[in-house]
Amino acid sequence: MRIGVLTGGGDCPGLNAVIRAVVRKGVKEYGHEFVGFRDGWRGPLEGLTMQLDIAATRGILPRGGTILGSSRTNPFKIENGVERIKENLANAGIDALIAIGGEDTLGVATKLDTLGVKVIGVPKTIDNDLNNTDYTFGFDTAVNIAVEAIDRLHTTAESHHRALIVEVMGRHAGWIALHSGLAGGAACILIPEQTFSIEKVCEWVESRFKTNYAPIIVIAEGAIPQEGDMVVKDATLDSFGHVKLSGIGEWLAQEIEARTGKEARTSVLGHIQRGGSPSAFDRVLATRFGLHAITAAHEGDWGKMVALHGTDIVRVPLISATEKLKTVDPALYKEAEIFFG
Ligand code: F6P
Repeated sequence: MRIGVLTGGGDCPGLNAVIRAVVRKGVKEYGHEFVGFRDGWRGPLEGLTMQLDIAATRGILPRGGTILGSSRTNPFKIENGVERIKENLANAGIDALIAIGGEDTLGVATKLDTLGVKVIGVPKTIDNDLNNTDYTFGFDTAVNIAVEAIDRLHTTAESHHRALIVEVMGRHAGWIALHSGLAGGAACILIPEQTFSIEKVCEWVESRFKTNYAPIIVIAEGAIPQEGDMVVKDATLDSFGHVKLSGIGEWLAQEIEARTGKEARTSVLGHIQRGGSPSAFDRVLATRFGLHAITAAHEGDWGKMVALHGTDIVRVPLISATEKLKTVDPALYKEAEIFFG
């Protein structure tokens, strides 16, 4: 078979590990050929390809980003997008696609599957919000980066008796905030799933100062105050209908200063969470996803996504990954609340 591989959406540590595993097993065990499609769905849409063989994937396991490039191109928002993809796949002699992506990329893959394109999905996102998989790769790396930042902020916050706010990624789901806040001993964690009371946050800040510790507040970019709205950096919608977030941390710092009289500053971790080398956990998870994805393709089990259930890699219907978002369970958030303040 001749199989196309693409990576779409926000990049994430571990993408190269998936590509390497797909190609290595696909060539060595099954004798398949591969074509790399550049920049997410833009690749098949515009016929942008690159060579993808064992030599091209040597040495990429620890490298962040994606050798294929990525984009947020939505072929369903482009005139004749689907026809153009089908035509380009046929011209390049492609039998099937392995699409590595999050809700948007796999949402497109799901629709294409119903339109007759043979496709296997691999779940990626630092946000860990894809449904029907216990974890996505990239999440563990992002959490470790955030925890390192929180550890560093603790010492400077204490030296200066400041409240320090760490704004992490997480548009609709607070997984990064919850895990990094718990692991980093935050004075409170604010997630998109539950609106927060600014008064309560100020109480926690003041009580943490009373214990001679300086408070660290971890807030997801999509967290919403009870007394306000989601803070957006740019309200323009991308081709999947998303606005650009960021700014809630700064808003919170100003409110805390005004209400408590304590100095408050914000660090926005932003794309630092997505860049650089994947953690060992993510390298292993991404590699296993890649190995199972190529086997699913070899067996012609189209319309499936590889997923982590417990410690097993299983195949689930592609549609189940995106039919709803995997958000933080209120009971899980409640567990963390005991440490607030
Ligand atoms: O989808 C993953 C994610 O990391 C979100 O948490 C964040 O809102 C978004 O990507 C930002 O991505 P970009 O700046 O590339 O549009």
